[in-house]
Amino acid sequence: MLTMPAGPAIRRLTTSPLVVSLGAHILDILGRPVTSIPPGQGSVLLQEIRITAAGTAAGTSVDLAKLGARVVAMGAIGQDEIGTMLATLLERHGVDTSRLARKPGVQTSATMLPIRPNGDRPAFHVIGANGELRLPDVDLAAIAAADVLHVGGPEVLGEFLGAPLARVLATAREHGVLVTMDLLRPGDRSVLRRLRPLLAAVDCFLPNEDQLLAITGLADVDQAIAAVLATGVGVVVVTRGAAGSRVVGADVDLSLPALPAPVLDTTGCGDAYTAGLIIGLCRGIGLHRAAWLGAAAAALVAQGLGSDAILTDFEHAVRYLAEVGADLGAPVIPLEPGSVPQSALDPRSS
Ligand SMILES: Nc1ncnc2c1ncn2[C@@H]1O[C@H](COP(=O)(O)OP(=O)(O)OP(=O)(O)O)[C@@H](O)[C@H]1O
Ligand SMILES: [Mg+2]
Repeated sequence: MLTMPAGPAIRRLTTSPLVVSLGAHILDILGRPVTSIPPGQGSVLLQEIRITAAGTAAGTSVDLAKLGARVVAMGAIGQDEIGTMLATLLERHGVDTSRLARKPGVQTSATMLPIRPNGDRPAFHVIGANGELRLPDVDLAAIAAADVLHVGGPEVLGEFLGAPLARVLATAREHGVLVTMDLLRPGDRSVLRRLRPLLAAVDCFLPNEDQLLAITGLADVDQAIAAVLATGVGVVVVTRGAAGSRVVGADVDLSLPALPAPVLDTTGCGDAYTAGLIIGLCRGIGLHRAAWLGAAAAALVAQGLGSDAILTDFEHAVRYLAEVGADLGAPVIPLEPGSVPQSALDPRSS
C-alpha cells in the first residue's frame, strides 16, 4: 500500500481505479431558467429541460467513469420507469449497474430542480428506494476487491446507516480500500450522531459547508472541521460553492479557490469535485493536486445543465485547470501516470 504523507492511503497507482459507488441513486429532472413557480395553472416556457443520473453516489459514478474509473454502482432503486431510466443513463456512461437492488413497491428516488438564472438550484426531492437498501443487497466481495469505496448520502439510506454501513466500512478497511464519503441532504445534528461511530473508517469526508455546519450544530467552520476530525476521520474536505474548498487533516490545511467559470447550473459540482479528487489520489498526484483536479471537474460541470454536464474526460479537466488556474496558483497535473517524482506525492507540494 502507498501512503501519501498527510493524505489518504491508496493501494496502487492507477489511471483506471475500480470504484464502488454506494448510496444515493437519484434521477434528476432539471429545467432552466426558473424565476418562480407560476400561480394557479400558469405555464412558463423554459430554454432547456434534462434528466440525469444524479445523487452523491450515482452522480459521482458518472463523473468518475468520465475521468477514467471502472465504476460499480451499489444502492437501491425501484422497479418503476424512473429506475429503468436511471440505470440506462448510468450504463450509457459505462457504469456497472448489475448490483443495483430493484425494490418492489417503492419509487426510485427523484429530484425536480428548477434552476435559477444565477445557477442556484432549489430542489423538490423524494427519498424513495434509497431508504430501502439493506446489507444483503451489498456485494461485500466487490467492495473488498475495489481500489476505492465511495459512500454517497449515507443519511438517506434509512436503517442502512448503522450496523450495515459499519460492516461495509469494516470490509473496506480490512482490504485496504480507500474510503470517501459525501452527504446529500442539508442535514442536522442527528446525522453526525449516527455517523460518529463510522467516520474513523473514512479516509476522506466531503460535506459542503452548509452540511458541515448543520451536522455539527456549529456556526464556525474551523470549529466544525475540528469537531468532525475528532471522530477519527482522515481528511475533511469542505466544499464552499463559488467560495472554493478547504482540505483539512492532521497535518494538512489547504484553501482552494473555485475556478472561474461561466456558471449555468451548479447541480452536481460537489459530485464532480469528489470524482476528480478520487481520480487524482489514485493517479498518485497527491492530495493537493487531487483537490485542484476536483475543483476543475466541478467548474466544468457548473457550465451546463445537470450533474453530468460539459465534463468529458480526465484530459479535459487537466486542460481546463491549466487554462484558467495558473493565475490562481493551480499546480500542473501530469497527463501521464507515473511521471510524478516521489516528492510530488506530498499533498502540500504544488
Ligand atoms: N459557481 C461556481 N463556480 C466555479 N466553481 C464552483 C461553483 N460552485 C461550485 N464550484 C466548485 O464545485 C465545488 C463543490 O461545490 P459545492 O460546494 O456547491 O458542492 P455541493 O453543494 O456538494 O454540490 P452538489 O451536492 O450539487 O454536488 C466547489 O468547491 C467549487 O470548487
Ligand atoms: Mg454535495
